[in-house]
Amino acid sequence: MKKLIVGNWKCNPSSAKKAEELIKASDRVNVVICPPFVFLNEGKLLKNASLGAQDVFWEDGARTGEISVSQLKGLGVKYVIVGHSERRALGETNDSVFRKTEAVVKAGMKAIVCVGEPIDVRKIDITAAEEFVALQVSAVEPLISSKKLIFAYEPIWAIGTGVAATTDDAVSMTNHIRSCCGTNKIAVLYGGSISSKNAKDFLDRPEISGLLVGGASIDSKEFGKIIDIAL
Ligand code: PGA
Repeated sequence: MKKLIVGNWKCNPSSAKKAEELIKASDRVNVVICPPFVFLNEGKLLKNASLGAQDVFWEDGARTGEISVSQLKGLGVKYVIVGHSERRALGETNDSVFRKTEAVVKAGMKAIVCVGEPIDVRKIDITAAEEFVALQVSAVEPLISSKKLIFAYEPIWAIGTGVAATTDDAVSMTNHIRSCCGTNKIAVLYGGSISSKNAKDFLDRPEISGLLVGGASIDSKEFGKIIDIAL
């Protein structure tokens, strides 16, 4: 099976011109580009890659500052990241993750649901980390049968730190997520300090369905190398 490579640009780049350049450079099959909302419209330049969003709100209407699923759909968005740890740090809860994921799925888009434990939990032991992740997975459990969910295992301590999980730990948590879902037929990505240097180690593992790439996805050369490894 082909691996999925998702680029999460976070709050980058600083101009539409740079966003256009990056979009054109990343436009390859089995790639999902997730620009910030302000550059989603540049996604119309994509011919091969799919467009993703970094978050969503679950309702249309009187919600100042929010973006709804119907607005995203109208821009050609096919994937939505939900519950990224950086959103959870700003107040996202398992309950809001469920509502957002439900709205995405009902709209016919795919939700990339991020799960992952903080360092203090990982330091206790693997069981504590597994229990933490199981709770996050169980929040969206009623939606698993929709077949529109993809999980991304992103240990918080690995995001943007330059210290990725070991591939064995990533595989073990990937298996755990699938067992929480009660099905092997669900894609689980790994994310956290992926670069062109370590991407192959993760992509070589059949249990890992692809990568969620942050920092390296806004460096077009580096991201290009990661895509080359995957395809
Ligand atoms: P990173 O971010 O690749 O910069 O560690 C991953 C993410 O936050 O999705």
